[in-house]
Amino acid sequence: MPSLRDLYPIPDIDPVWTVPQDFDAAFDWNYDDGRRQMMHLYQKGKDMQWDAISRIDWEEELDPDNPMGLNDQLSGIYYTPIWAKMSAKEQGWARRNFQAWTISQFMQGEQAALICAAKIVQQVPDLDAKFYASTQVMDEARHVEAYKKLLEKFGVAYPMTKPLQTLVDQALRDSRWDMTYLAMQVVIEGLALAAFSNIRDVATNRLAQQVNAYVMQDESRHVAFGRLTLRDYYPQLTQKERDEREEFLVEACYHMRDRFEARETYEILGLPVEECVKAQNDSGYMKMFRTMLFQRIVPIVRDIGLWSDKIQAAYAEMGVLNFAETDYEQLVKTDNVRAEEMDEINKEKRRAYVADVAALGARGTMAAE
Ligand SMILES: [Fe+2]
Ligand SMILES: [Fe+2]
Repeated sequence: MPSLRDLYPIPDIDPVWTVPQDFDAAFDWNYDDGRRQMMHLYQKGKDMQWDAISRIDWEEELDPDNPMGLNDQLSGIYYTPIWAKMSAKEQGWARRNFQAWTISQFMQGEQAALICAAKIVQQVPDLDAKFYASTQVMDEARHVEAYKKLLEKFGVAYPMTKPLQTLVDQALRDSRWDMTYLAMQVVIEGLALAAFSNIRDVATNRLAQQVNAYVMQDESRHVAFGRLTLRDYYPQLTQKERDEREEFLVEACYHMRDRFEARETYEILGLPVEECVKAQNDSGYMKMFRTMLFQRIVPIVRDIGLWSDKIQAAYAEMGVLNFAETDYEQLVKTDNVRAEEMDEINKEKRRAYVADVAALGARGTMAAE
C-alpha cells in the first residue's frame, strides 16, 4: 500500500504537524452513574462500531478520469472557457484532482477529529463524557482508515488545506475544554456532515457512496455528543462568556464559508488560480452548496443556547437562519436508512457471489453462464 505522502503533488510538506497544548488533564473520582442520555449514546457508540475492511466492498473500481462519478456541471469551472479549452485528457486529470482534494480534506479532517476527541477524553470533567469520547476516538481512527483506503484508489492526495488547519489549530490550542467541542463537534463535524451527505447523494460510484454513508452513521452521534454536553454547560456560563463563544462561532462560520477553496488544485493543474476561484465562487451550484453546508450547524447552535440576536443576525446575513427550523431528527433517520440500504446491496452482492460459487462447485460453471 502506498504512503499517501507519495501521492501528494505538493512538494516540501513537513511529515508531522505539532500543535502546542496547555490544558489540565482531569480525573473524575466520583464514578457517578452518568447522565442517562450520555450513557445511552455511549452504549450506541459501542454497539455500532463497524470495520471498513469487512463492511465495504473495496473491489469496486474507480474511473481514473472521474473517480466518484460526478456530473461535470457540479464543478466550479465547468461553465468557463478554461474548462472548454482543456482536452479530454486534461479534463480527466482535473476531475481526478478536484475529487481527490475533496476526499483528502475529509480524511485530514478525520485525523483532526481523532486528535480533538482524544483531547476531550483527557480534559472534559465528567466520566460519562470521557466514556463517550473514547468511542469517538475509535470511530475517528476508523474514518481515517476508510478515507485513506479510498484515496489510495485515486492515486492522488492533498495535504490539509490552510483554512481548515487554522480552525483545527484553534480547536486544539484553546485551553477551555468546551472550545474544542465547539470548533470540532459543532462547526467542523456539522460542516463535514453536510459535505459528506452531498457526496453520498450526488456520487454515482458506489464505493464513494458507501464510505460516506457509513461514516455519516457515526458522525451524527458525534454531533449529538457535542449538543448534549454543551446544552448542559452553556447555561452555567456568564453572558460575557457566552458572547465570546458566539463571536468565535460566527467567525469560524464565515471563515469556513469564504476560505474553503481548492486553490491548491488550480495551482497544481497550472490553471489561472484567481480566475478559477472567482468562477467557483460565482457558480450557482457552489452558492447553493455553501448555503447547504450550514444546514446541520444552525439547529445545533440554537439548541445549545448560543442564540442571541447577534448570532441570529449573522446567520440571517449568511442566508442560513431558516435552517434553525430543520427537522434534525429526520435528517439523522435518513442518514441511518441510507447506510442500511448500502448494507442490503452488499448483502445481495454477497448472496449472488455465494450462489455463483455454489453453482461452480455443482456444475463446474458460474450460475450466470
Ligand atoms: Fe469522523
Ligand atoms: Fe466525527
